[in-house]
Amino acid sequence: MLFYAMHIIHLLTVILWIGGLAFVTSIVLPMAIKTPDALQKVLLFQRVEHRFAKVARTYNVITGATGFVMIFLAGWHRTLFTRAGIPLTVMTMIWVFWFVMLWGLEPFVIKKMLTNMLKDPKMDIDGIFKRLNTMHWFMVFISLVAATAGVFVAHIPIVF
Ligand code: HEM
Repeated sequence: MLFYAMHIIHLLTVILWIGGLAFVTSIVLPMAIKTPDALQKVLLFQRVEHRFAKVARTYNVITGATGFVMIFLAGWHRTLFTRAGIPLTVMTMIWVFWFVMLWGLEPFVIKKMLTNMLKDPKMDIDGIFKRLNTMHWFMVFISLVAATAGVFVAHIPIVF
């Protein structure tokens, strides 16, 4: 019963989290990039990113907590870093990457970078937004890889 509850919460949280990320990446970021005024461009993105990062931190913790409860309930933690546990290991490693991004890099590196952009009008803002765009699509991609790995864990056993 607890396992099923964790599974449902895990899945719903992932939908909200990755759906939100895809929205920011495919709608908000292009809107910011197309905004001609540099100040408006940075402000639009900064406001959305800061708000979303806070929510994403909560989603990250819930996804991780429910995932770890499930693997300990089922005893699957023993398959981590083994051949049979490749999808679980992939999902966990991508989660760790997100954890570091959201709790380590975003509040310090990204936040600082956006604040510096507002202070220094001579910065190559278009170049930075190009890199932000690439980084966001990369994060959407690896999140979809994690979701696919999750489907393997839940429904498609790997037999070597
Ligand atoms: C980026 C982070 C993660 C994403 C996007 C993600 C996504 C998913 C998805 C889409 C499923 C499939 C659910 C289904 O088909 O019904 C799933 C299942 C699962 N996830 Fe994750 N997950 C993440 C992190 C984790 C972590 C950190 C763990 C634990 C260490 C974990 C453990 C599990 C387990 C055990 C299942 C299978 C549940 C079952 O067999 O009933 N996940 N995940």
